[in-house]
Amino acid sequence: MIDATGRPQSVLVLGGSSEIAGAIVARLVPGRCRTVVLAGREGPRLTGAVEAARRSGADVAEAVAFDTTEVGHHMDFAERVFERFGDIDLVIAAAGVLGDQEVDAADPVAAAAVMTTNYTGLAAALLAVAGRMRLQGHGRIIVLSSVAGERARRANYIYGSTKSGLDAFAQGLADDLEGSGVGVMIVRPGFVRDRMTEGMTAAPFATTPEAVAEAVVRGLASDAAVVYVPTVLRGVMAVLRHLPRAVWRRMPG
Ligand SMILES: NC(=O)c1ccc[n+]([C@@H]2O[C@H](COP(=O)([O-])OP(=O)(O)OC[C@H]3O[C@@H](n4cnc5c(N)ncnc54)[C@H](OP(=O)(O)O)[C@@H]3O)[C@@H](O)[C@H]2O)c1
Repeated sequence: MIDATGRPQSVLVLGGSSEIAGAIVARLVPGRCRTVVLAGREGPRLTGAVEAARRSGADVAEAVAFDTTEVGHHMDFAERVFERFGDIDLVIAAAGVLGDQEVDAADPVAAAAVMTTNYTGLAAALLAVAGRMRLQGHGRIIVLSSVAGERARRANYIYGSTKSGLDAFAQGLADDLEGSGVGVMIVRPGFVRDRMTEGMTAAPFATTPEAVAEAVVRGLASDAAVVYVPTVLRGVMAVLRHLPRAVWRRMPG
């Protein structure tokens, strides 16, 4: 169970090798979290994340095969995880790809892969997992959205639209779960300096996986519904959302 200060005993990460999720797990394990289930595509990054969770002190840290795009497997996946590990206090939806806007805009198949990974597939997996959490009657779901989803930008509207979809889905899911004992927290980071953004010029108010993790832990403690990282982006986005289109269209990449 999640205790009164928002600390879970068990966590399931969808996108188990995510750097941001890794930073969150590194904060949760020394706190109270004993069981870490990292669901993702098999490979050295996932193995490394399991080892890092063990080094943090988790009693149980295991990888489970999961691919957001394999939507036909999501119900089985959720069933297997909850059967094997018991109650899950916290689920972190972290899977996502940035894609390459220019390439994807010219290749609908590549664009669809980004859309399925970030939105369709992940949202379908969240439905499967939320069903199990509803049955257990407690828990929290963290959805890693992005400020990129608040208003689609010419320079990354394929990725941005997937985050808009995921964010809207998470808002609806939160309302649907009202009264079930399960809560949803939406996290909207700005530019995070990590593997996903490697080699890119940092946007204003750029942050780190560790700062996102700190904000998540604070958000869990205060039972926040929406968390911006850094917090200043809440006000910044409120302004940017209303910029005239002619100005917004010229926003740099
Ligand atoms: N970095 C940023 O600036 C930023 C800002 C705002 C929001 N976010 C969001 O935060 C989340 C975590 O990103 P991150 O910064 O931690 O980057 P990351 O380290 O690249 O994490 C992305 C994760 O998604 C997984 N993934 C990709 N395709 C998948 C698929 N088909 N099935 C299952 N897992 C898949 C990756 O696994 P593999 O190891 O198998 O590739 C990796 O674990 C993402 O949703 C991202 O959109 C990031």
